[in-house]
Amino acid sequence: MSVRRFTAMLAAGCLLATAGAAVAQGSNGSTYPVRPVTMIVPFAAGGPTDVVARIVSDHMSRTLGQQIVIENVVGAGGTTGSTRAKRASADGYTIIMGHMGTHAAAVPLYPNLAYDPSVDFEPVGLAAGTPILILARKDYPAKDLAEFAEHVKKNAATLNMAHAGVGSVSYTTCLLLNSILDVKPTAVPYNGTGPAMNALVGGQVDYMCDQIVNVVSQVQGGSIRAYAIATAERNPALPDVPTTKEAGLPEYSVSAWNAVFAPKGTPQPILDKLSEALDKALTDETTRKRLLDLGSDLPEGDRRGQKALASLVRSEVDRWSRVIKTAGPGN
Ligand code: MLT
Repeated sequence: MSVRRFTAMLAAGCLLATAGAAVAQGSNGSTYPVRPVTMIVPFAAGGPTDVVARIVSDHMSRTLGQQIVIENVVGAGGTTGSTRAKRASADGYTIIMGHMGTHAAAVPLYPNLAYDPSVDFEPVGLAAGTPILILARKDYPAKDLAEFAEHVKKNAATLNMAHAGVGSVSYTTCLLLNSILDVKPTAVPYNGTGPAMNALVGGQVDYMCDQIVNVVSQVQGGSIRAYAIATAERNPALPDVPTTKEAGLPEYSVSAWNAVFAPKGTPQPILDKLSEALDKALTDETTRKRLLDLGSDLPEGDRRGQKALASLVRSEVDRWSRVIKTAGPGN
């Protein structure tokens, strides 16, 4: 056989193998998924993003007929894991549970952010809204939000505020709180509010702003104090916690969200399968109850889809760019 003929056969063989692999992986959507899907959680295990991801992916796995495996990729306020997701193959086998921090507030906070949430990701759907609470260690010397605000204003120089890294929800929402109170406490970063919560329960830090999903059992058990929830209404999961409006700080009105994204270029049929699986999860009574018991605000109907998430990301990037411009970069 001539060298030319041998080379041509080799090239044809490679092409066939590549095409075969693409079909086997279901990149046209018809057979997808044929193997487990990785869902990156850009924060520590046990924190709010991780908890929402595990609850939602549990049901999505059943719909897809393949396991969704959670991979916690921590660092830099969730931007390390998000960058990893952006760079993953756009074949539907790597997706990410992002949130208001990683896919909106990080934009104004990181001038050299390696990704643009509106450009580098395909929206799959909104998974949950997560109200924010103002929390403190259980022996914090303030019985209500007014006393807390007064105490923080007088003692900020000696106080430690926990957060999950610059750009995270806890960082951004406490940046807003600190700017309203006009204080600059020492900001102590963790890889997620799972570990930050342990520090708050242990009394190693003084206060934190966190998503409700991470706090219900600690507040109910009395291992931390909750001064207020920053939503218009009280939350059924913590009915005794007043709203910030009721507690005298109406200007602190903020909440976060979790959403599933895929890398840019993921084929539309695959995105549609993922969106349908997410939608089914959010319709399932058991999944809904698990999320509602943790205080989540469940997106209904049109708020869940790809288009709704694309427009949410755009409006949240704008909103947080304005807030951070006014609040300053914090510390
Ligand atoms: C987490 O899962 O640890 C949080 O979502 C971190 C945060 O953004 O505050």
